[in-house]
Amino acid sequence: MKAVLQRRYGSAVLGDLDVPVPGQGEVLLEVRAAGVDMGVWHILTGKPYLLRVIGFGFRAPKSVVPGRDVAGVVKKIGPGVTGFAPGDEVFGTCEGSFAEYAVAPVSQLARKPEGASFTDAAALPISGGTALQGLRGIQPGQKVLVLGAGGGVGSYGVQIAKSLEAHVTAVCSTRKVELVRSLGADEVFDYTVADFTGTYDLILDCGGARPLSALRRATNERGRIVLVGAETGGSITGGFHKSIGSILLNPFSSKKFVPLMSEERADVFDELRVLVESGAVKPAVDRVFPLAEALDAVDHVYTRRSVGKTVVAI
Ligand SMILES: NC(=O)c1ccc[n+]([C@@H]2O[C@H](COP(=O)([O-])OP(=O)(O)OC[C@H]3O[C@@H](n4cnc5c(N)ncnc54)[C@H](OP(=O)(O)O)[C@@H]3O)[C@@H](O)[C@H]2O)c1
Repeated sequence: MKAVLQRRYGSAVLGDLDVPVPGQGEVLLEVRAAGVDMGVWHILTGKPYLLRVIGFGFRAPKSVVPGRDVAGVVKKIGPGVTGFAPGDEVFGTCEGSFAEYAVAPVSQLARKPEGASFTDAAALPISGGTALQGLRGIQPGQKVLVLGAGGGVGSYGVQIAKSLEAHVTAVCSTRKVELVRSLGADEVFDYTVADFTGTYDLILDCGGARPLSALRRATNERGRIVLVGAETGGSITGGFHKSIGSILLNPFSSKKFVPLMSEERADVFDELRVLVESGAVKPAVDRVFPLAEALDAVDHVYTRRSVGKTVVAI
């Protein structure tokens, strides 16, 4: 099969590989589309270095093929798999979705939303699942601020917060304003023109460029600041530096920082399926790249040109 091959950090090429064999609890997927997010860039480059220490591979990436978000068709089922059969259309996460075939654990798969394209389904799992988990517990009428609202997680954050009947304020740069407004945000601030004002019950920080003190000032008493991620840290700890700092600050205030580590689980993806089928969420797919240009797709996201989500179609 054709696949993007990354045998060491910082270098990847399109090449040929044997079709993988599904093991216990896994299925073989014919990949139709693979979502792209910042996580793919981190694993391609091995940065921040902390990632290598926490299990993604010390000297070289553990997975020879990059890509985690996947949508495709079940071709074979492995031992112990129930509930899925060849021909089923599914989405979720796996290791190595930048390929014609990939093996995925069924614990990370859900049925593709009725009526959704493979491209839309591949744009859902990591970004949509992260937004969903970051917004848990939001009550109708509460005020939610989404920073980085025109990116992958943020574009779902706006829609999911609206589906929970929150009042949503979104912050992004000029080229992303139109998209963010179309997603249903009550107020949109283009931070290049004027910064947001007010205080919030929950801040979903997907941009990561603001200091913790500024985030805390913009939070109501007993409010939460969910730290999704940042690309502003150095090459050693990257965005994790803010999470570490926030834990030290938490005992001194009723406003709590919540460093988010989202989980890739079938039940989370099934919740996303329901939200898409009900019309509450529509993946905002910006550009679709062919497999041969998968690295350009990653660069499109890394350089912040992606408005919403970027997808590789196979
Ligand atoms: N905690 C978790 O489990 C988890 C899961 C998924 C992703 N993440 C992390 O969360 C962050 C957001 O993910 P994403 O997929 O939404 O990324 P994305 O698609 O690149 O969106 C991030 C948005 O943040 C804004 N931004 C503001 N300042 C930035 C800066 N200095 N560098 C980069 N972007 C900046 C950008 O919007 P403007 O161009 O409008 O400023 C961009 O649209 C990333 O760091 C990612 O690694 C964490």
